[in-house]
Amino acid sequence: MLSRLALRRTFTATAFNPYKVTVLGACGGIGQPLSLLMKLNDKVTDLRLYDIKNAKGVATDLSHIPTNSVVTGFSPEQPDGLSNALKDADVVVIPAGVPRKPGMTRDDLFNINAGIVLDLAKAAAKSAPDACILVISNPVNSTVPIVSEVFKKLGVYNPKKLFGVTTLDSIRASRFVSELANTDPTGEKISVVGGHSGITIIPLLSQSQSANALSKEQKEQLIHRIQFGGDEVVKAKNGAGSATLSMAQAGAKFANAVLNGLAGKEGVLEPSFVDSPLFKKDGIEFFASPVRLGKDGIQEILDIGKLSPEEEELLNECKDSLKKNIDKGIKFVDSKH
Ligand code: NAD
Ligand code: LMR
Repeated sequence: MLSRLALRRTFTATAFNPYKVTVLGACGGIGQPLSLLMKLNDKVTDLRLYDIKNAKGVATDLSHIPTNSVVTGFSPEQPDGLSNALKDADVVVIPAGVPRKPGMTRDDLFNINAGIVLDLAKAAAKSAPDACILVISNPVNSTVPIVSEVFKKLGVYNPKKLFGVTTLDSIRASRFVSELANTDPTGEKISVVGGHSGITIIPLLSQSQSANALSKEQKEQLIHRIQFGGDEVVKAKNGAGSATLSMAQAGAKFANAVLNGLAGKEGVLEPSFVDSPLFKKDGIEFFASPVRLGKDGIQEILDIGKLSPEEEELLNECKDSLKKNIDKGIKFVDSKH
């Protein structure tokens, strides 16, 4: 049993890095389990949930969990609901928007989600200009450029603090490789680079010993499964949405890494779709690769390492689509000004 002194010490230790985290779209399929996981994160002391429906209910529910954070729900009906939800946040996670139904591509979500992300980005630029912004809403290849353009136009863009969340691609790759290679999925680290949709998702299997040992046919099937893992879930849910629980885990993993970086932890590496120098020579402004996270957000964007000839081909195939997706996001913001 802990003494009162030990309890106070424990509390002081966990309260040492008190971070404010805002979830926009907190009451959806991803938002709710993601908010739960953020409530369980001891680096978070102030958790704000914003949604166009039910934020108060979800916040009240989570607020009964005895962890070291206060949870507050905000809605558009409240005066300044969105700006109060965002005010001075350290991390803003955005899963707001509609998910796919069978037969749709992520790009088919653009017409609805681009406007949602644009409005939320404007509010974040005004009320939380220094926050790390973590974009989950699809199509990520276009929504991240939308946020960057909005922040640029409002004069507060910091490329070190904008992230497209691609963690789900890496965790899927770890799981799928382990199923075939009969290894421990928690020990599989598969680098997945590029973007977050179909052929823009490039798993670098040659860089993993266990994946590389698989047959050529297995590797080809594996690459396809990782690229289209999202479709597998959309099909299985049969009209009821896309990945939510695995995405919540992926989003919480990435948010935790960003918080660890802000807290000064060394050696925090996660893949993310970021404003990247890696392929700017090809006109590609954003690219997913491993990034080192630190006190100011991105400390370093790592190179993607050595590729096999097949992976070089995947990279070449990805570039055109990725560039088009990125340009579409940028043009959308330009068309609104
Ligand atoms: P959902 O429909 O279950 O939830 C979306 C939530 O956003 C709803 O609660 C809705 O009320 C809210 N919302 C809508 N407009 C809003 C606004 N203007 N402000 C605040 N909240 C708003 O959908 P979901 O399954 O949670 O998916 C959300 C998004 O995440 C989709 O675009 C989906 O494609 C995407 N997604 C991305 C990844 C990834 O790897 N990055 C993975 C899975 C899903
Ligand atoms: C995923 O990869 O599961 C998400 O991007 C959702 C989707 O539409 O596939």
